[in-house]
Amino acid sequence: MAFTYKHVIFNVLVLLSIFNTCHTEELKFGFYKNTCPSAEAIVKQETSRIISVAPSLAAAFLRMHFHDCFVRGCDGSVLLDSTRNNKAEKDSFPNLSLRGFGSIARVKSTVEKQCPGVVSCADILALLARDAISDKHGAFWPVRLGRRDGRVSKSSEVLANLPAPNFNISQLKASFASKGFTTKDLVVLSGAHTIGVSHCSSFSNRLYNFTGKGDSDPALESNYTAFLMRRCKRMDVGSLVEMDPRSYKVFDTSYYKAVANKKGLFTSDSSLLADGETRAYVTRHAATPDRGLKSFFGDFAKSMVKMSEIGVLTGNRGEIRKTCSFVN
Ligand code: HEM
Repeated sequence: MAFTYKHVIFNVLVLLSIFNTCHTEELKFGFYKNTCPSAEAIVKQETSRIISVAPSLAAAFLRMHFHDCFVRGCDGSVLLDSTRNNKAEKDSFPNLSLRGFGSIARVKSTVEKQCPGVVSCADILALLARDAISDKHGAFWPVRLGRRDGRVSKSSEVLANLPAPNFNISQLKASFASKGFTTKDLVVLSGAHTIGVSHCSSFSNRLYNFTGKGDSDPALESNYTAFLMRRCKRMDVGSLVEMDPRSYKVFDTSYYKAVANKKGLFTSDSSLLADGETRAYVTRHAATPDRGLKSFFGDFAKSMVKMSEIGVLTGNRGEIRKTCSFVN
C-alpha cells in the first residue's frame, strides 16, 4: 500500500515537472534559427513593402499588437475570425476599427510558403509591429520569439481587458497594473498615440454633451475643441481625425506636447496630466522634444518588450496556425 502511495506521488511529481517544463519554456532571440532561418528577414522585407505603399498601416499594426497582447496575452487571438458558434475578439466594439488584417494574412502566407507550419501568427504580428515602426520611424525594440497561437478568441473578453478612451487616470493605472505595467509604462506606451488616427466616435462625447448640459470637456483647449467640432459634426461617428495634431505621421514626442497643451484627443490622453508621475513625464518630454526623443525611444522600447511578452503561450501550448484567421 505504502509503495503504491509513494509510487503515485512520484508519478504525479514527474508529470508535474514535465508539465511545468513545457509551460516555462521562454521566448528567445533567433527562435527560428534552425527551423525557419529566413522568417525574420521575410517579415521585415514584407513589412517594408507594405509600409512603402500604405505608410499609415504602421500605426494600425502597432495598435493591433497592443489589442492582441492585452486580451489573453500576445497569442494572435485578435486575428481569429468569428465562427457560427463564437463571436471573436475581432468583432467586439473596440476592435471594429482595427486595420491591416489582410496585410498580416499576406505576410503569413509568404512565410508559410517558405516554412509551412513553423512560424506563429502571434510572432508575425509582434515582428510586423516592430518592423513597421522601425522601418519608417526610427524607434526599435528587440523581439524575442517563440510565441504560439491561441485557439480561443472571445468578443466578450475585450471590453474588460482593454482600457477605454474615456478612462480617467485611476482606471488607466488599474488597467495597466492588471497587465503588470507601472505608471511609467502607462505614460510611455500612451506615447504610441503620436501616430495614427481616430474615429470621431471615440472622443465626440467630449465635444457636444460632456456633462449632459450641451457642454464640452473643459480639459480640452478651447481652440482645439472648436477645431474638433469642425472635423466631427454632431452624430458623425465615421470621420477620421489625426491623434497628434502636429505630426500624426511621425513617431516623435510631439504627442506629449499636445497633451501638455490640453490637446490630448481622448480623456485617457488628457488624464495623463492628472497624476504627478505621468504629468512630470509629459511636461519633461513636451519641453525638450529633441533631447527627449532619445529617452522616449529607450523607454518605449523597454515597455514594448514587456508588452510583447504578456501572457505568451510557449512550449507545447497553443498551436502554430496555418492561417491567422482560423484555428487549425
Ligand atoms: C492608454 C490606453 C489607451 C487607450 C484608451 C487607447 C484608445 C485608442 C482609441 C480609442 C483609438 C482610436 C480608435 C478609432 O476610433 O479608430 C486608438 C488608436 C491608436 N492606438 Fe490607442 N489606446 C491606448 C493605448 C495604446 C497603446 C498602449 C498603444 C500601442 C502601444 C496604442 C496605439 C494606438 C495607435 C497606433 C492608434 C492609431 C491606430 C490607427 O491609426 O489605425 N494605444 N487608441
